[in-house]
Amino acid sequence: MSIPTTRKPIVSEPMVSEAHLASFDRTMQLMALLETEAQSLREHAYRVTDLATSLAVALRPDDADLAVKVAVGALLHDVGKTTIPTHILNKTSRLEPSEMMVIRCHAAVGATLLQPLIDDKGVLEIVRNHHEHWDGSGYPDKLAGNAISLGARIVSVADAFDAMTSDRPYHRGISSEAALKLLYASSGKAWDPEVVEAISSLYESGRWPRTMV
Ligand SMILES: [Fe+2]
Repeated sequence: MSIPTTRKPIVSEPMVSEAHLASFDRTMQLMALLETEAQSLREHAYRVTDLATSLAVALRPDDADLAVKVAVGALLHDVGKTTIPTHILNKTSRLEPSEMMVIRCHAAVGATLLQPLIDDKGVLEIVRNHHEHWDGSGYPDKLAGNAISLGARIVSVADAFDAMTSDRPYHRGISSEAALKLLYASSGKAWDPEVVEAISSLYESGRWPRTMV
């Protein structure tokens, strides 16, 4: 399957500068390289990108910079997983504590991998902090509340929603409605309540990204 090296940005043209487009092109070149290493991560990355970018636009409609950082950060959020051995990444039985530790390293490892390639602190924060929790119980930095960047809080919710609704080696995907209920159940604990409200509104509004249908 041929992989496109460029992809039109999801945000509307008038919001996007030449610098933003160059950032997208660079990101898609990285994705094309990544896809040969980790094809199983590709579709997840694209769905999370569409959902997270829609959330960013819904939450901050006038902030094109946030939308672009979120789009780039979401595309690359799991790049660190390319360093995880396949037998751990695709394991269907319960993970050993040591294996869980390897999996959990992917957020920090991803940011480290990208640091020399992407000159954007906001994007690197999204990659490093997309598994932080609103109550400080996440990883790798145990940040809480607004200490987690808004971009990372958005990608965290989009990532969780897609993980819940997709079939994985270790579980069958649940319905969108069931996933939204689970997000609400952990709103204010794992997830930023403002982002949980936004994903619910997006789902009910008919502005839901087509890749998520
Ligand atoms: Fe992740």
